[in-house]
Amino acid sequence: MLGRVNHIAIAVPDLIAAAASYRDTLGATVSAPQPLPEHGVTVVFVELPNTKVELLEPLGDASPIAAFLEKNPSGGMHHICYEVEDILAARDRLTASGARVLGNGEPKTGAHGKPVLFLHPKDFFGTLIELEQV
Ligand code: CO
Repeated sequence: MLGRVNHIAIAVPDLIAAAASYRDTLGATVSAPQPLPEHGVTVVFVELPNTKVELLEPLGDASPIAAFLEKNPSGGMHHICYEVEDILAARDRLTASGARVLGNGEPKTGAHGKPVLFLHPKDFFGTLIELEQV
């Protein structure tokens, strides 16, 4: 069911500083900040040869990463995104096996314009999983 790692997401308290660190200290190619109000985050993409890193900063009052940053004030790895071919088939298989899909269970449009779902971290060894249909 799982395909490639699409991206690894890191929540950061200061997106401009984090992007500068990836660009200037680590020597990576980084995108301009992209606000995603429907997801409550602003994103910078770090382009790597084999995958991407997403740097996430809270946007708005009800950001889903606000509580994470309260617990991890200097930032931390927030989720890993795996590609799937058919997100509805993946969801149905997961829910049939007892895994919990976050939200209302319907895919949302993610940062790359593709349908995404998130799986409860307690069902997968303490790691929030995003599935993205490619
Ligand atoms: Co993501």
